[in-house]
Amino acid sequence: MPQGNRLKLGGAQKEGLRHGGAEMSKANAAIDAIKSGLENRCIVLVGLMGAGKTTVGRRLASRLRIPFLDADHEIEEAAGMKVAEIFEKYGEEQFRDGERKVVARLLESQSAVLATGGGAYMNEETRALIETQAISVWLKAELELLLERVARRDTRPLLKAGDARSILERLITERYPIYAQARLTIETGEGPHEHVVQDILRSLEEFIGLNNS
Ligand code: S3P
Repeated sequence: MPQGNRLKLGGAQKEGLRHGGAEMSKANAAIDAIKSGLENRCIVLVGLMGAGKTTVGRRLASRLRIPFLDADHEIEEAAGMKVAEIFEKYGEEQFRDGERKVVARLLESQSAVLATGGGAYMNEETRALIETQAISVWLKAELELLLERVARRDTRPLLKAGDARSILERLITERYPIYAQARLTIETGEGPHEHVVQDILRSLEEFIGLNNS
């Protein structure tokens, strides 16, 4: 390489690289610790519509280098139709029945991140399965944030029944005491999804550490 093109690093830059490298290996060690602490269990994300379960779940899975599974998507694949269509054609009860079966099947997957639909954890049987076979994480969000997020998509059948604010308010009252049974609770706010992923990773690391000590 001609002398002029050679990359020259000063002392501070070399130190920066060394430091960056140390941070990276610390982060990788944390990822490895979490993965082995999972002992093949799934991480199950629960929470209301708009809490970010799918977006955050996808990123979390990619950070952990494990598969990402989306319960609603799997239900749609199994039924050969969209969630809204299942509600329309067969009603909520049939959807819940399919949801219970699909979640039970997905929980048998080895170490994956599973995003559930907002109602899945409300089923007692499903909740018990999740609690015995997986590590549950509640993505807890304020009403205003949920409202802002759900307004971006009009595919959610439960929100078509009336005013989104009052429906979500009711669901918060009914569901938050149940979601609170999840093993970990992560408060999500306006910030980037990446921050939520970081919070989950920190929380998982602590949880796994506590369980190993
Ligand atoms: C539901 C949430 C939806 C979907 C269905 C019912 C619920 O999933 O499963 O419309 O009961 O809260 P998301 O939470 O992924 O929107």
